[in-house]
Amino acid sequence: MKVSVIGLGKLGVCVLASLTARGIKVIGYDINKKTMDTLSKGIAPVVEPELHEHIIKGKKNISVSSDFNEIIKNTDVSIFVLPTPSKSDGSFTDEYLKSAIQPIALALKNSKKKYHLFVVASTLSPGTMDKSIIPFIVKNSGRKLNKGFGVCYNPVFIALGSVIRDYLNPSLLLIGESDKKAGDIMVNIYKKVLNTKPHYGRMSIVSAEIAKISLNSYITMKISFANTLSTICENIPNSNVDDITKALGADKRISPYYLKGGLPFAGPCFPRDNRAFAVFAKEYGCEANLAVATDEVNDTQVNHITDLIVTNVLKTRIKKVAVIGLAYKKDTNVLDESPAIKVIKLLLKKKIKVLVYDPLAIDNTRKVFGHELEYLTGVKECFKESQLICIFTAFDEIKNINNSYIKHNPTTIIDCWRAIDTSKLKNIKYIALGKASK
Ligand SMILES: NC(=O)c1ccc[n+]([C@@H]2O[C@H](COP(=O)([O-])OP(=O)(O)OC[C@H]3O[C@@H](n4cnc5c(N)ncnc54)[C@H](O)[C@@H]3O)[C@@H](O)[C@H]2O)c1
Repeated sequence: MKVSVIGLGKLGVCVLASLTARGIKVIGYDINKKTMDTLSKGIAPVVEPELHEHIIKGKKNISVSSDFNEIIKNTDVSIFVLPTPSKSDGSFTDEYLKSAIQPIALALKNSKKKYHLFVVASTLSPGTMDKSIIPFIVKNSGRKLNKGFGVCYNPVFIALGSVIRDYLNPSLLLIGESDKKAGDIMVNIYKKVLNTKPHYGRMSIVSAEIAKISLNSYITMKISFANTLSTICENIPNSNVDDITKALGADKRISPYYLKGGLPFAGPCFPRDNRAFAVFAKEYGCEANLAVATDEVNDTQVNHITDLIVTNVLKTRIKKVAVIGLAYKKDTNVLDESPAIKVIKLLLKKKIKVLVYDPLAIDNTRKVFGHELEYLTGVKECFKESQLICIFTAFDEIKNINNSYIKHNPTTIIDCWRAIDTSKLKNIKYIALGKASK
């Protein structure tokens, strides 16, 4: 089974690298020539742990091509991993997906091949495959569904910063299939590459579309619930949000994942999938009040963190605030919906001077703020330059902060993840989300 991956961005290139490292031959195509050139030299075109190693491991199985006839001739399955940006109403556009599918479908029309499988991994608004994508393939390929081609909707559940690990070790695989043959092909590919034996959720295409955004919407609800608990605990001396969420998570009806009070949910998937869930429900005459409330709680948390910082700036007349951690989570340079970026924007509006540090995301942050911020090169420098430190990301170094970092008396630390061990730290005022401040 030879595969092509169309769209080699943050997710697509990791799919390609994972498949090729496990022995599957893959032809990659991306509209961005630089991405193709970089990959063909064996270099990772995006920042992602384990990606480079997988590209090196699978090098002999990787090729790139912008010849669609060659892609159709030499592969049996095309996996489409195109951007589907949110529209202003919260639903997703399928324009990029269609523009990527069209040349492949046209090449199929001109080919003598009996069958080709189109697999869509992009996030879609439910109903898009049946109403828009499948008729589009039929029109451009001149073929009949399940005769000359098959279709799977196969979204993957990965988080940036652990895409390859998540891709190769899923507990669930969602496969929306146009017929059994199409689904069997996907299952056989996964059986060859995965480390785990996941639950294969095989279903109709529209069910898989609904399942994908429901799953993310449900997770955001869990995060917002933990964040609500976190704020409650800040107001109740001697309570500890981590003790409470650990206990809740130990109950098998709940599970411990995504149940830690802290920052609002963020990134390229959770916020928009949750919004799209509410929009999609409404389209079918139903109100998804839970999803709407989840979003509101998330925004509240951004304002809550900003208020904590502003209150301390005003109280102590601190001149500069240092923000540590800018990407929406650790091990990535992606800023999408990043709480740190949202908070910084609010602080700048209040004319508060902000210094920033992140090991991976400084360049992307500079693109957003230019000269509005001061960019620092390490955690120690943040402590040297500011008396108020806000920890947004719990890098490993954060857990090891000791007295040698503390240069001002007092140094105020706002710790969004309760990551710092304060037992031996002197001259600090410590404020943690989820705990009552002493
Ligand atoms: N990144 C994630 O964490 C994640 C997780 C789950 C699902 N998804 C979904 O996967 C999809 C892709 O996300 P991503 O983060 O990889 O996006 P991305 O923007 O990083 O990558 C998309 C790639 O598609 C390429 N492209 C655009 N038009 C093209 C065309 N006509 N032909 C070929 N290539 C084209 C772009 O150049 C880019 O390299 C989205 O629907 C997203 O919602 C992403």
